[in-house]
Amino acid sequence: MKISVIGCGYLGAVHAACMAYLGHDVLGIDVDQQKVDNLNAGKAPFYEPGFPEKLSAGLDSGKLIFTTTPQAEALKDIEVHFIAVGTPQGENGAANLTYLWEAVELILDNQPNPKAVIVGKSTVPVGTAQQISARLETYNAENGTELSLIWNPEFLREGFAVEDTLHPDRIVYGTETGEENWAQQQLDKVYEIPLGEGIERILADYATAELVKTAANSFLAMKISFINAMAELCEATGGNVTTLAQAIGKDKRIGHRFLGAGLGFGGGCLPKDIRAFGARAKELGVPEAVSFLTDIDAINKRRRDRAINLSVQMLDGDVKNKKIAILGAAFKPNSDDIRDSPALEVAVRLQDMGAEVVITDPQALPLVAAAYPQLSLVENWEAAVQDAELVVLGTEWDVFKQLDPVAVAGIVSTRKVIDGRNVLSPQDWKNAGWEYHGMGRS
Ligand code: UGA
Repeated sequence: MKISVIGCGYLGAVHAACMAYLGHDVLGIDVDQQKVDNLNAGKAPFYEPGFPEKLSAGLDSGKLIFTTTPQAEALKDIEVHFIAVGTPQGENGAANLTYLWEAVELILDNQPNPKAVIVGKSTVPVGTAQQISARLETYNAENGTELSLIWNPEFLREGFAVEDTLHPDRIVYGTETGEENWAQQQLDKVYEIPLGEGIERILADYATAELVKTAANSFLAMKISFINAMAELCEATGGNVTTLAQAIGKDKRIGHRFLGAGLGFGGGCLPKDIRAFGARAKELGVPEAVSFLTDIDAINKRRRDRAINLSVQMLDGDVKNKKIAILGAAFKPNSDDIRDSPALEVAVRLQDMGAEVVITDPQALPLVAAAYPQLSLVENWEAAVQDAELVVLGTEWDVFKQLDPVAVAGIVSTRKVIDGRNVLSPQDWKNAGWEYHGMGRS
């Protein structure tokens, strides 16, 4: 199929490369010339395992190309346009849909193929698809075309983006009536290979398809904040949240995944999406339906406060001029994304309080340097912990999880560690003479 992907950020670039891998002719469109140049040169604009290989393969096969200025001729041939632009947090937490509408108008301004299918993948407030569909109807009436919209939310995780795009848990389609139509048949052709592998396709109306995405991210955020609330109770009682999570997770109805207590969630999705959901529920007159999301957000923010307070406490009441090593800057391992990163917020706040913070991360340092020039960055953990009076593990990269407490003890000034992700062995670290504090681990 001939397809376009409008918006080549994390979601769009990976989607474009994976669609080329599935055998389609893909035109990636983005407004950022630098990003487009990099993508065309086979340079991934972000760290994502497996993506550079798919990108190169697509470029080499001639099936993948990126542009800032799509030619009307090229757009006319496109059978399926995917919209994958960002919907950043706007006023009062609501999603900013400027780029989304620009993408819709870009398609319409270029006299698209009269039977093109437009597929929405961006995360949007419920009700947006209906508005886009209404815009397409007006255009169809004026131009004698049959453009049709499908809402097809994306569930990929950073760090597993290629795998999640090619082998998702499920594929959700939202259509106007919630029933099959010719546009859905076109999308089935795009996804012929994953559907052929037996991945379930769930058909819904627009509102449900949009809600699936926000509900899924809200549920994940709720699970993390739930266990972090239990961590607070463990801190108040001397309990151990790791054992608690292990025990409740054995119940299959609860499950172990996303019960990792620690510094909480960050990134470009979960925090923004729960706020946008709350703002949308308010607009719809049902704020109470998701009022619990405010608590989820608050619990999450409190974990960062907890790490700061613990640092102050462990450094005898004052962090001023004390050397603190922060291990990790990305919001999670296997990513260089620093958006709303808990580890980075802790680093910046401790630095603002007068501590001498040194931070390291296997992938995120270039982005940290650009956004936080005031932070002192070093290439590896050995340099970071040199003479440190406190070590804070903020992101659970394997290299930090596997640290040998005896070896690290020989480099630091004082053996004090905060395990912000509860991934170190308290016993091993204590045996090596460390004052160890996890997050809700007695
Ligand atoms: C999330 C969802 O998991 C994806 O399904 C979704 O498609 C994506 O948002 C999106 O909307 O685009 P992602 O932001 O890549 O994916 O990250 P997650 O793996 O969900 O992790 C989010 C945060 O939660 C990270 O900071 C992570 O460290 C934290 N986390 C995760 C915990 O604190 N504890 C856990 O047990 C799990």
